[in-house]
Amino acid sequence: MNVMELIQQNREYTVSLRREFHQYPELSWKEFRTAKRIREELDKFGIPYVEVAGTGTIATLKGKKDHPIIGLRCDIDALPIQEMTNLPFRSQNDGVMHACGHDSHMAMLLTAAKVLSEHRDELECTVKFIFQPAEEAMNGALKVLESGLLDTLDTVAGMHIFPKLPAGTISVDPGPRYTSAGFMKIKIIGKSGHGAMPESAVDPIYVGAKVVDALQSIASRESNPNDTVVVSICTFHCGTLPNIIAESAELTGTVRTFNPKLQKQLPGIIERIIKGTCEAYRATYEFDYYIDIPATITDAHCSEISRRAVEHSIGEEHLIQFPGTPGGEDFSYYLERTPGVYAFVGCRTPENDCLYELHSDKFNLDEDSMLNGAAFYVQYTLEAQEEFT
Ligand code: NI
Repeated sequence: MNVMELIQQNREYTVSLRREFHQYPELSWKEFRTAKRIREELDKFGIPYVEVAGTGTIATLKGKKDHPIIGLRCDIDALPIQEMTNLPFRSQNDGVMHACGHDSHMAMLLTAAKVLSEHRDELECTVKFIFQPAEEAMNGALKVLESGLLDTLDTVAGMHIFPKLPAGTISVDPGPRYTSAGFMKIKIIGKSGHGAMPESAVDPIYVGAKVVDALQSIASRESNPNDTVVVSICTFHCGTLPNIIAESAELTGTVRTFNPKLQKQLPGIIERIIKGTCEAYRATYEFDYYIDIPATITDAHCSEISRRAVEHSIGEEHLIQFPGTPGGEDFSYYLERTPGVYAFVGCRTPENDCLYELHSDKFNLDEDSMLNGAAFYVQYTLEAQEEFT
């Protein structure tokens, strides 16, 4: 099977699908039209599927053998962003945009499904196509995995279209690709009073400011300089008038690291600092660490398989090395359970203004890059079926 040739023959299909998905973006857990369209395409290819977690879909293509079972995953949701491009196929849903390229992810995976289904006689494995909802909400992956339908995967491949890399390149490096992503809410509880009489109050703004400051000591004083740690307090809400000391302050923030061991320690470290600071200044606190997704780590062996997949389809000269990057991706939950790869598919080009970052209201991608992603899905399957017998 000459994978790249087959993918190129389907270019129009890939591009038209991406543009259609782009026109009708839907937010996390509301991907109803999207899921319906995915299932219509799977019906055309004759690939049976089941619904998972409402708007998710897992399709199973049986080749000549039941094993190995190879998972190929994409995400399907969009973002609450008003699109500011002038593309003829720009979003028709006000305030919602495929600004993270998940439109292209679906187009790539459906193209791979089409090609693989047309060559199912050549498959020595079973392929599971995973169309995952709510990646942006960071709780879609776990819901899909809870179904138990992916418990027997031998390997899994996911990817992101990636504007930090030029169109035509692809990175399949081993090790951490994205950081972990923790989210927290902190409530500092003081005592309200008159702004002119601070002695009768406990000022939650003052204490909160000390907490924000002290949390930065985690990166600078407490963790190994070789570890990436980011602790960012991103909201701080408190107070009503210039002469009233408020009762409490509410802060939220995010925490990132590549190191799984440190990730587990961070909530405890953060709480210790909040507790100590609050005690020092007579305040109390509430602390909620409510999401803590792991770092996205590509398995070394699967990275090797992926290199071969790129060499045998897209071409060795397209391989590029790229270090892990801050960000968060719930594909990490699949990789915690199953060895696999997370690829970065370069899509930046000055043509058609494809120069903006993910989540920008002007984000657009080089559409030919999708051919590389689709080819990678297919060729990874072919290479992996030899390795996981
Ligand atoms: Ni994304």
